[in-house]
Amino acid sequence: MRLDKYLADMGIGTRSGLKKAIRAGAVFVNGVPVKKADAAVGPEDRVEYEGEPVVWHAVEYYMMNKPAGVISATEDPRQRTVLDLLPAATRRDLAPVGRLDKDTEGLLLLTNDGQLAHSLLAPGRHVPKQYLAKLDRPFSDEDVRRFAEGLPVPEDETAGTARGRAAFRAAPARLWAAQDEDENGAPLAMVEIAEGRYHQVKRMFAAVGKQVLSLKRLSMGTLVLDPALAPGEVRPLTGEELRELRDSAGRGRAETE
Ligand code: URA
Repeated sequence: MRLDKYLADMGIGTRSGLKKAIRAGAVFVNGVPVKKADAAVGPEDRVEYEGEPVVWHAVEYYMMNKPAGVISATEDPRQRTVLDLLPAATRRDLAPVGRLDKDTEGLLLLTNDGQLAHSLLAPGRHVPKQYLAKLDRPFSDEDVRRFAEGLPVPEDETAGTARGRAAFRAAPARLWAAQDEDENGAPLAMVEIAEGRYHQVKRMFAAVGKQVLSLKRLSMGTLVLDPALAPGEVRPLTGEELRELRDSAGRGRAETE
């Protein structure tokens, strides 16, 4: 591919800015300065931009501990998005796999592997997701039973779209006690759902008369939030995490390793 595309794919800059930088001598290929933006390079070449290696990947996978206050979108004119938290030299076509509410924290997978994203999100796949919820009051055995049976969730008048607003019947979900209360004695609950409707966890608790004060996603399928990641931190998936995720998403063997 062209040198300017190679660098642009990896998020180094825009094609026009890169053309200038290449002409100015900022780019070395296999130790030699290359000043032509249309010079042919491939993944086997050693490319450096301003002295830093730039490794090209066709697909990338990152685990983020999404902080509260950041939206799960790829762009927004006013608000910070999860893409703003990625390191600079990453592919520019990365996108979050599914959405977390702005005030929800925790596990978010970002990738440009559309097929994997689709397999994880397709409603028919029922990929389980576990959340830790802080509640305004403790849940009851009756709530556990109602979650396990599946429960009617009323319309959400605050939702911006008709689809988001619609009432639905939640599929059976697991609800159990998290080990501890939080530091202020607020009850914590663990919940596992296999759907991904708008505000689903909050609305399921609201349907049994409890308010979710904060919410954190801990897992999605086989992928578990790395406890070493502080809110806002990101790291590439390990080979093992990726293999397990692909296997669980029914994609079989990894073809890009
Ligand atoms: N359920 C919610 O209510 N919010 C989220 O962010 C995720 C699941």
